[in-house]
Amino acid sequence: MTSDDLLARHRAVLPSWMPLYYAEPIELVSGEGRRVTDAQGRTYLDFFGGVLTNMIGYDIAEIREAVQRQLATGIVHTSTLYLIRQQVELAEKVARLSGIPDARVFFTNSGTEANEAALLVATNYRRSHQILAVRNSYHGRSYAAMGITGHRSWSASALNPLQVAWLHSGERLRGLLARLGADEQVDAAVEDLREVLATQTAGDVACLIAEPIQGVGGFVHAPDGLFAAWKKVLDESGILFISDEVQTGWGRTGEHFWGYQAHGVTPDLLTFAKGIGNGFALAGVVGRADVLESVPAISFSTFGGNPISTAAGNAVLDYLLDHDLQANAARTGAILADGLRAAVGGLDCVAEVRGKGLMLGVEFVRPGTAEPDPALAARVFEACKAGGLLVGKGGLYGNVLRMGPPLTLTEEEAREGLAILVEAIRSAAAEAMPA
Ligand SMILES: Cc1ncc(COP(=O)(O)O)c(C=O)c1O
Repeated sequence: MTSDDLLARHRAVLPSWMPLYYAEPIELVSGEGRRVTDAQGRTYLDFFGGVLTNMIGYDIAEIREAVQRQLATGIVHTSTLYLIRQQVELAEKVARLSGIPDARVFFTNSGTEANEAALLVATNYRRSHQILAVRNSYHGRSYAAMGITGHRSWSASALNPLQVAWLHSGERLRGLLARLGADEQVDAAVEDLREVLATQTAGDVACLIAEPIQGVGGFVHAPDGLFAAWKKVLDESGILFISDEVQTGWGRTGEHFWGYQAHGVTPDLLTFAKGIGNGFALAGVVGRADVLESVPAISFSTFGGNPISTAAGNAVLDYLLDHDLQANAARTGAILADGLRAAVGGLDCVAEVRGKGLMLGVEFVRPGTAEPDPALAARVFEACKAGGLLVGKGGLYGNVLRMGPPLTLTEEEAREGLAILVEAIRSAAAEAMPA
């Protein structure tokens, strides 16, 4: 069967609001390490990992064998009505690593459900459905998760079970806080929080939820320390703080294991998904016991933390820690970030090279302005593919190239990908120049 047949069949049977990447979409049929091969036999270096989800890479023996061992027992699913050894073991590890004292863990199948669970316990604990969320955020696709998503392209419905007030993001190119120095931006964001609390809420707010680096939002992040400055204000009235670590967790930022640690603060609740299963559906929320116990009814997830996904999760976490992939993210991320800044950071069409560790974005604008240039981003994106590199796209205006490779990326692969990126950006930028 050709990819074209599959594309026609896809379009005939799947909804159009679930987009495909590329003018000529590809089907990935095999993978190994950081490389994937499409149905035409073309191999790519993968700097997006199925949206930061293939965190360890493809066909990793330790993970494959852990899942095969579980399959060989004959037990794929039991439900959480029975003890699941792999689940308890993973919960112990996640609780210990979370940095939250006396933590409890609830497993789900997706980041959306993880955030739903966090919102459930936060709103129950505080007896309030008022939430503070951040502009340019993405938290998932349920009504509540969409309701705290501050991104027009991903807001598919206005129906919202929550009452939400919005804080400014760490956006540095546009908006009211743009172009402030880091300290000034933190002060302004705290002032904004106080004003929002005073003018848009009834005071008894349940929680503030924030991504340390906004994933879908194009890897925008606030200056280090903002979360702690916010939390000081939140603590005055007992408002909980939730860190959505779906993209930033497990050492991806290089400098820390969790994104929140850059801010010198410990969240009350932390949500995780994507990378922890390395492709198996695994997510959850970890948080303070008193908050997580705020469920006055039975609540369970049929597939959440099932034996297969938690077998994978344990193997992923052991691999990650045994190989110190956080340090590798710092090392290989620096090669990419420094290389990009040196080679293309000065181009008129590149507004910013930003991010941390192996979570890096390049934002494209019309030369000399802050006007987004999604067409240029799209050309670079296609040029990367033509050069043999898969990357992601994002940002409020679709003008940000996103790189989130597996954390096992080697220095050689970082340099190889960097060369493709630089060539793609330079050639697309040159084409865009007026003759
Ligand atoms: C920060 C963040 N939170 C939550 C989600 C939702 O996760 P899922 O797609 O697994 O429901 C995503 C997905 O991209 C995300 O990036």
